[in-house]
Amino acid sequence: MRFVLSFAVLATALATGCAVTSNSQAAPTAVEGAVPTDDLPLLRFAYSGPPANWPRPTLDPGVAFVEFGKVPRPATPKDPQHTARVALGQMLFFDARLSGPGQMACASCHDAELGWGDGRATSFGHGFQKLARNAPPILNAGLLAHLFWDGRAKSLEDQALAVFENPNEMHASASHVVATLRGSAGYRERFAQAFGEPEPTLANTLRAIADFERTIVSDGSSAFDRFLDGDPAALSDEALRGLHLFRTKARCANCHHGPLLTDGGFHDLGLSYYGRKLQDLGRYEVTKDPADVGRFKTPSLRNVARTGPYMHNGLFDLDGVINMYSAGMATLKPKPEQEGDPLFPRKSPLLQRLDLAENEKRDLRAFLESLSERRRRMVPPTLPELGAAGG
Ligand code: HEC
Ligand code: HEC
Repeated sequence: MRFVLSFAVLATALATGCAVTSNSQAAPTAVEGAVPTDDLPLLRFAYSGPPANWPRPTLDPGVAFVEFGKVPRPATPKDPQHTARVALGQMLFFDARLSGPGQMACASCHDAELGWGDGRATSFGHGFQKLARNAPPILNAGLLAHLFWDGRAKSLEDQALAVFENPNEMHASASHVVATLRGSAGYRERFAQAFGEPEPTLANTLRAIADFERTIVSDGSSAFDRFLDGDPAALSDEALRGLHLFRTKARCANCHHGPLLTDGGFHDLGLSYYGRKLQDLGRYEVTKDPADVGRFKTPSLRNVARTGPYMHNGLFDLDGVINMYSAGMATLKPKPEQEGDPLFPRKSPLLQRLDLAENEKRDLRAFLESLSERRRRMVPPTLPELGAAGG
């Protein structure tokens, strides 16, 4: 009984972040709000309740932390038009005939079996040209405030239009896409079911694709989700220690938090290759604010172990990423001619040298792997024939 009581005192102390001052004999020594990672029973206990009662994360001043949790499932609308729009959007997503040369669909670079990315460092675009950036997964993209690594699209509709028109990607004009759809009796029927109006328009086309994408959300099948559901065995000891490290010593929760494990913000991790061949200025390309040079969107870490290679340039594997964080990321040094350059990128002060031990890196990795979801396949839908719409 006393054991249980003292643990309750400790739990309160952990949750409130203050030292245990109770003189209760069985209470472990003062914890100062910090749970040692190597005390497994204590760690198991500290993480046994809902996230709001977990040990507080280690955060720098100014970080607007949102607690971890399950990804909200979208309400399933009973509206038959919505069902028809999602089905239509799926067809459009898989329809390579909409791209300029008729060879590339959204699904070419966002493949369910590859965690909704394309498994490449950077994608091959139109005419097999190498694109500059890694294809992010579309999983949960409907829940993000900014799309693309630099956040230049604000909605899935804007995003889809940008891809169609990008000469290096789908290489199609909006009018080509709409004209192709208008010429298809099969698509006209689908548009009628989805919008009550058979004439495909650009807005409706983008809306259908976006409605389909909004159904691609985390399904709650990951070990981490089962742990959040109250199954303590869902997280191995390694993954549990990794969760704790992620929130405390390894400082990840400063930027990766909330149900999607992203703050929705932009940060410079020192990967802009400023002034070099691979240079990518990230958010600055959109805002032209010198403070944004080298900043990229914090990606969601949901299902992350299945979406490599990583970072906006796709140059790293998971161990590489963890090693770089452990070293505090590379700091770019200005060359003599770059001294005083107002655009010279400044790495986020939230990154610090962590000097993680090998077992700590393994634990972090195990936590990231606990975010993997059930593997998905999506059988390409049967596509309507083109043409035959009477001219
Ligand atoms: C040639 C490969 C390719 C094709 C085809 C492609 N994408 Fe992408 N997609 C990318 C790349 C690369 C990015 C990241 C580009 C950037 O950030 O500048 C991206 C980004 C996205 C994002 C943003 C995700 C995020 O987290 O910011 C969404 C959503 C998306 N694509 C959906 C689509 C849709 C819908 C289509 C079809 C209309 C499509 N993509 C076609 C490669 C592709
Ligand atoms: C300063 C904010 C910040 C901190 C702290 C941080 N991250 Fe990140 N993380 C980012 C940003 C921004 C990116 C994308 C950077 C880029 O592509 O240039 C990223 C990318 C990643 C990726 C690659 C995901 C992908 O889809 O490509 C992983 C994995 C990751 N972080 C894990 C971690 C871990 C583990 C920690 C703690 C050791 C951590 N992060 C700490 C902001 C942060």
